[in-house]
Amino acid sequence: MFYNSGFLIMKKIILLILAVAGLSPALFSQNKETKEQRLEWFKNAKLGIFMHWGVYSVNGTVESWPLKNKQMTWEDYFKQAKGFTAANYNPSEWAELFRKAGARYVVLTSKHHDGFALWPTKYSKLNCVDYSPAKRDLIGPYAEAMRKEGLKVGLYFSLIDWSHPDYPVNFKRPVKELKKLYPQPNWQKKHLNAHERFIKFLFGQMDEIANNYKPDLLWFDGGWEHDAEWWRAGELKDSLLKWDPHIIVNGRLRDHGDYRTPEQGIPVTRPGGIWELCMTTNDNWGYRPSDTNYKPLAQIIRTFVEVISEGGNLLLDIGPKADGTLDKKQVEILEGLGKWINKHKEAVYDTKAGLLPGHFYGPTLISKDDKTLYLAIYGIPKNYIGLKGLKSKIKDIRVVGTDEHLGWVRNGGAVWSRIPGIVRINVPGKENIDKYVTVIAVDLKEPLKVYRGAGNN
Ligand code: GLC
Repeated sequence: MFYNSGFLIMKKIILLILAVAGLSPALFSQNKETKEQRLEWFKNAKLGIFMHWGVYSVNGTVESWPLKNKQMTWEDYFKQAKGFTAANYNPSEWAELFRKAGARYVVLTSKHHDGFALWPTKYSKLNCVDYSPAKRDLIGPYAEAMRKEGLKVGLYFSLIDWSHPDYPVNFKRPVKELKKLYPQPNWQKKHLNAHERFIKFLFGQMDEIANNYKPDLLWFDGGWEHDAEWWRAGELKDSLLKWDPHIIVNGRLRDHGDYRTPEQGIPVTRPGGIWELCMTTNDNWGYRPSDTNYKPLAQIIRTFVEVISEGGNLLLDIGPKADGTLDKKQVEILEGLGKWINKHKEAVYDTKAGLLPGHFYGPTLISKDDKTLYLAIYGIPKNYIGLKGLKSKIKDIRVVGTDEHLGWVRNGGAVWSRIPGIVRINVPGKENIDKYVTVIAVDLKEPLKVYRGAGNN
């Protein structure tokens, strides 16, 4: 009897342990998001604003690269820090402008390749508090202001640090001074080699960034100087996800990124998966008053439409001046883009990548419910607007952002081979042709179905 009840109690305890053990992975996995879930907001973001801001904004030099390219000595390059005042730093103004521009996220350079940090990192004195008259944290208020306007917070972070005394470089540096700027505990000097010390430093700064500012997105750069193993990229990604399970990471953490990051060149074929094109408004990332080669608004809007029609986001770059204000031209571009997006917002935010080539001469977008097809038109159409291979029945055709509805006819095709005829849409009234890109909405009676065959013979 005694043996029996003891046995039963034991059995119950064992079963309980097994149940808890069995449950705990499920409990854990509730916190862990899949990559798809983490990227959900990003997939629908469409427009982000990129900001390159650092000591290079002072004299309008190129960001960081004059060091590597031996165009400036380290000393001369960093003399610029004396002018980095951030005197008119007002991130709420930035945030308001970016929201009006139609952006859903912002990415600010927390540290570029030169190593100058925009937050008071305890791992180096080469930061805006200790090494410039700005004397204040520039990341915290930025993150807060962006969040207030409903924008996701991104931070650019250069893996490369060309000022870190343990980081291998190809140019001459004042090593003694750098050792003072990047203080290291004695035990590290004694027991670790240069690479190990640099990795400690890298992980230390990442810890500060991830835990103090909780960015939604970390935008790495510079990974190309070493392989994933050298950067401890896998470990770094694991740490970031541990610190913040929602965080997403761009494609420059070697093979540990979450999405692709083409730069400047608009892809001609659709990149697979989730992606973002980063592009400058003129020819430079940071503020360079000598560079007046701004892209016309028409080009920026077309590029935006082309990027989203291929399923990507556009990360459009501007460079604030050293005092934190923005160049008039850059503001004008963002306001112009915002005006266009606002007029056409139904075609921008509630859509996904459009039709493959062959159906329409121009970019297209498809509503998330597959019930509306958007056709982007650059010029003034002649005769009719043609759409090929549309199988679904049409309910209505509208000019987005106006009250105009357009008539259409369907003609031709080969019914016996199930090849739909061409849809000929009437041309909109001249007053409804947009100055930049006109968008026609084709509302469907049923979810979009298209013919993609090669005809019959
Ligand atoms: C390049 C450059 C860098 C710039 C970045 C933005 O990788 O090295 O200066 O910040 O592109 O995408």
